[in-house]
Amino acid sequence: MCDQWKEEFEYAVQVARAAGAVIRKAGECEIKVQTKSCAVDLVTQTDDRVEKIIIGSLKEQFGEGTHCFIGEESVSKGKPCVFTDKPTWIIDPVDGTTNFVHGFPFVAVSIAFAVNKKLEFGVVYSCIEDKMYKARKGHGAFCDDEQIQVSDVKDINKSIIISEHGTDRSPEKVSKIFSTMQKILRIPVHGLRGSGTAATNMCLVACGASEAFFEIGIHCWDIAAGVVIVREAGGILLDVDGGEFDLMSRRMVSANNKTIADRIIKEIEIFEVVRDDAE
Ligand code: IPD
Repeated sequence: MCDQWKEEFEYAVQVARAAGAVIRKAGECEIKVQTKSCAVDLVTQTDDRVEKIIIGSLKEQFGEGTHCFIGEESVSKGKPCVFTDKPTWIIDPVDGTTNFVHGFPFVAVSIAFAVNKKLEFGVVYSCIEDKMYKARKGHGAFCDDEQIQVSDVKDINKSIIISEHGTDRSPEKVSKIFSTMQKILRIPVHGLRGSGTAATNMCLVACGASEAFFEIGIHCWDIAAGVVIVREAGGILLDVDGGEFDLMSRRMVSANNKTIADRIIKEIEIFEVVRDDAE
């Protein structure tokens, strides 16, 4: 029983590594960029191609009937984002598409697996850095083959906090995001950072390089794998209002401990977003 989902986990690691190689190769050629929800929400042929490769190979290995798939690009093309109790793969083929387009060297493949709506494992392959982060529930979190742990810092004044501004540039949201960032900087914290990929940001919390990452507006595919990695590294997940974390809510605080999370939460100016599973 304790080895349940081991085969799926190991296969996901292989698939993520192969997908990362495709992304690296594509980055050497001319990248054709299109937009999705707005002028700064970018997508490339590589996002589509890599998602097809990942889902295709998972279907071939584990069968289509019993497993469900939530993939960023399939959802953006109109497939409903339905999260059921069935074994479900949650995939971001290229997390950090804007970075990929610009050659900014943080791009990740993110693959998570949930059963009964509970995340069982997560794999984040930061493919330009060639770092494989992975975690399976109850088995610890790893970067390559080394076990990782969140930082033990409890003093917010000694922390590095990560956040992102996403792609929604409506004036009200931008001003709330920057007002939150100002308040956090003034606590003061040692620094405020952002790698441009939510999946990688969560791995930075998991390995102790940062104490917390929060964002409103992320999607389930950006963070699902990171959630398992942070938890297995000893960290916690909360909603931005301090309540229980909800994968479909598009709101998240991941932190090394509750002291740091609660201090950040005090400063977050919340704005409305449409849930991933909204009809
Ligand atoms: C984006 C990245 C970014 C975060 C956005 C995401 P994508 O994912 O994770 O860091 O700020 O909210 O949408 O579009 O590159 O897969």
